[in-house]
Amino acid sequence: MHEVTILGIESSCDDTSAAVYKHGKMLANVIATQEIHRQYGGVVPELASRAHQEQIIPVVDTALKKANVKKEEIDAIAFTKGPGLLGSLLVGVSFAKSLSMALKIPMVEVNHMQAHILAHFIDDPHPKFPFICLTVSGGHTQLVLVKDYLDMEVIGSTRDDAAGEAFDKIAKMLGLGYPGGPLLDKRAQLGNAEKFDFPEPKVKGLDYSFSGLKTSVLYFLNSETAKDPSFIEHNINDICASVQKRIVSILLSKLKKASKQYHINEIAIAGGVSANSEFRNTLLAVADKMKWNTYIPKFEYCTDNAAMIAMAGYYKYLKNDFVGLDVHPSARLKF
Ligand code: KG4
Ligand code: ZN
Repeated sequence: MHEVTILGIESSCDDTSAAVYKHGKMLANVIATQEIHRQYGGVVPELASRAHQEQIIPVVDTALKKANVKKEEIDAIAFTKGPGLLGSLLVGVSFAKSLSMALKIPMVEVNHMQAHILAHFIDDPHPKFPFICLTVSGGHTQLVLVKDYLDMEVIGSTRDDAAGEAFDKIAKMLGLGYPGGPLLDKRAQLGNAEKFDFPEPKVKGLDYSFSGLKTSVLYFLNSETAKDPSFIEHNINDICASVQKRIVSILLSKLKKASKQYHINEIAIAGGVSANSEFRNTLLAVADKMKWNTYIPKFEYCTDNAAMIAMAGYYKYLKNDFVGLDVHPSARLKF
């Protein structure tokens, strides 16, 4: 069953990535991060698609070389259909089509959000079905009930900003660089998280909201800097620690609620924000108390990567779930 070789391609946002999955092992996962966006403080879609065009061939070549796999050995190409930036997705989809034609091999389309979850199956140990996965990235915050590899149900999602976006936007207000999440995390480790209290949003059910928090931080900073222009400079670490504590408490309170509601204690985390130190520490403490089995993939499989696309492609390959050359990307693809 494992005797299959899949090439995975990911190009939904600002990382161009290619991965090779062969005989049950992820042999390569090459990621080219686009540095060009840093100077603009956010992803510029036009620049992203141009960079994907420049990088996709070298990235795929490097992945194949690293895996020591020849093009002729590939059984299928898995690519990200969406969600993501349309221009970026188009580069991956077009590349997959031309390679599929040249090599006469089938294509598998992959939903990026499902792939983040299936990244848990690249390495052992992996969660047992059914499990709950909280996917937290710059673009998404989603609670998903995972019943099987390809049977998933979104049970909660953000009504406005994603958690990573909240980290990035607040970091920007504080004058930190981009992407701000990791920089805010670093500052927070030096600060007092009890110093400032930011409000918890009142959202019913399992949905999230982060835009209220963002606004309250903005008002707070405006009023404090009106009194003392060096307020941010003098309190930066404490502000970061307090903001981070609130974002993490919001994330975990809904996760606890979902676990109780569905009587599930297999809990998985995916997406770039799962690198956050406070999130990891608090999650472990909560897991201990709630008797959860928790799963966090290796960091290179948490942020955007093609290994997760190859993995998802593998499960769809087993079901002969292929697409034709008329396939097109979908920026707002749902499950
Ligand atoms: O999954 P990802 O690489 O890309 C998306 O699909 O969005 O996630 C990137 C997000 C960014 O918002 C980044 O600031 C956030 O993950 N992030 C962090 C940390 N590392 C990455 N946020 C908080 N703390 C971190 N240590
Ligand atoms: Zn992602």
